[in-house]
Amino acid sequence: MQPYLIAPSILSADFARLGDDVKAVLDAGADVVHFDVMDNHYVPNLTIGPMVCTALRNYGITADIDVHLMVKPVDRIIPDFAKAGASIITFHPEASDHIDRTLQLIKESGCKAGLVFNPATPLHYLDHVMDKLDVILLMSVNPGFGGQSFIPSTLDKLRQVRERIDASGFDIRLEVDGGVKVDNIAEIAAAGADMFVAGSAIFNQPDYKTVVDEMRAELAK
Ligand code: DX5
Ligand code: ZN
Repeated sequence: MQPYLIAPSILSADFARLGDDVKAVLDAGADVVHFDVMDNHYVPNLTIGPMVCTALRNYGITADIDVHLMVKPVDRIIPDFAKAGASIITFHPEASDHIDRTLQLIKESGCKAGLVFNPATPLHYLDHVMDKLDVILLMSVNPGFGGQSFIPSTLDKLRQVRERIDASGFDIRLEVDGGVKVDNIAEIAAAGADMFVAGSAIFNQPDYKTVVDEMRAELAK
């Protein structure tokens, strides 16, 4: 397992002052910026695109940007995100007609690549691509909105994926996204996750450092 990473989802940030808010959460000790891209087609919500990623880079954000694509189709937006400064690009396999090709496209663009599984998406999509994955992202809510409750059956799915990663011998991060809070992060880590997306749990609190510190304390238990 790799060291734990905390990745605040900027879906819950203040978009009127996004650069400052992202700086603040990184200054508070967060590791990675989780960047949720929604198209009002694959998911019933509309958010941000490559322009905003470029703007964050131009504003001086140097942390890794973890672009979670909730869009269909996926391929044509990938080079734009790579140019915009994305570090990691993940997508939902059912949103791509050619999963292997999409993974290759991400890698050829110079980014790390990952697959995202909704709570009810079967894991068989992993069968032939483990060697091409840097990240596996398990959704613990249905994608589209921040502030939803963690779906408990995700814990069992996390354990299954952790076993598959360990058996594969590949160095693949296991990221979890949705409803992650101070009071459940330890249980999620025990199930095998090593990267934690948290939106509302961090941005809805006045003091980001307190939440990030509390999460790290839970992870150290
Ligand atoms: C949901 C997004 C998540 C979301 C997490 O579709 O992918 O990243 O913002 O928000 P919280 O932590 O509030 O559940
Ligand atoms: Zn996300």
